[in-house]
Amino acid sequence: MIDADPTAPVVTIDGPTASGKGTIALKVARALGWHYLDSGSLYRLVALEVVRGGVDPADAGRLVAIARTLRPWFGDDGRIRLSRPQAGPAEAGHEDVTDAIRAEEVGQMASRIAVVPALRDALLALQHSFRQAPGLVADGRDMGTVVFPDAGLKVFLTASVESRAERRYKQLMEKGISTILEGLLLDLQQRDARDSQRATAPLKPAEGAFVLDSTRLDIDQTVRAVLDEAERRQVG
Ligand code: CDP
Repeated sequence: MIDADPTAPVVTIDGPTASGKGTIALKVARALGWHYLDSGSLYRLVALEVVRGGVDPADAGRLVAIARTLRPWFGDDGRIRLSRPQAGPAEAGHEDVTDAIRAEEVGQMASRIAVVPALRDALLALQHSFRQAPGLVADGRDMGTVVFPDAGLKVFLTASVESRAERRYKQLMEKGISTILEGLLLDLQQRDARDSQRATAPLKPAEGAFVLDSTRLDIDQTVRAVLDEAERRQVG
């Protein structure tokens, strides 16, 4: 793991599930020419190992052990691979888990294990290591409140739960995954409740956050609003 560069500027984008954080954060990072951290993918990577290994999601010791041995690779091609030093030559030592970690079951498990404080601590150093020149755009739930509290711009991205459910529905349909809108809505509401009511690092706007409601904005308008605010706050 490389050392963080604490002088590199940071923009954080936090918000509830399916608010479009990932898409917006990636586009903002590209526009600025900065690095990008999808912190949710780290929780999902641990969750994938939990689901596959039949691990008890309340077993903090096991969760920490998984987080400490996690060797993720974030390719420029957008693929996420897990390095498996123990694996045989057939797997060439890594596995592409980009699609596996996006399964709804893995997302639900990520939100369950994310309530464990020791796991959150164990993932801190890995998240900090993404802070490199010329800058970092990080998305998640606690990027502005806990992980990068000195970020120059902290965005809190929201949208109504109905519009988020519709967006997620469209995404899944485009991928050929059939689903029921009502079920998705319920899933989002459950995840919102768990993420915002947990004791450690609950989802909430950071102090001084730029709160952006994207219910009536398209992707480009939302990206523009973030970039304009970054300019106004002279970040970067
Ligand atoms: O795509 P979606 O917003 O549903 O989820 P994600 O950003 O990939 O994160 C998956 C889960 O990890 C969330 O439901 C959160 O509970 C948890 N998480 C977290 O606790 N802290 C973060 N910084 C990022 C994600």
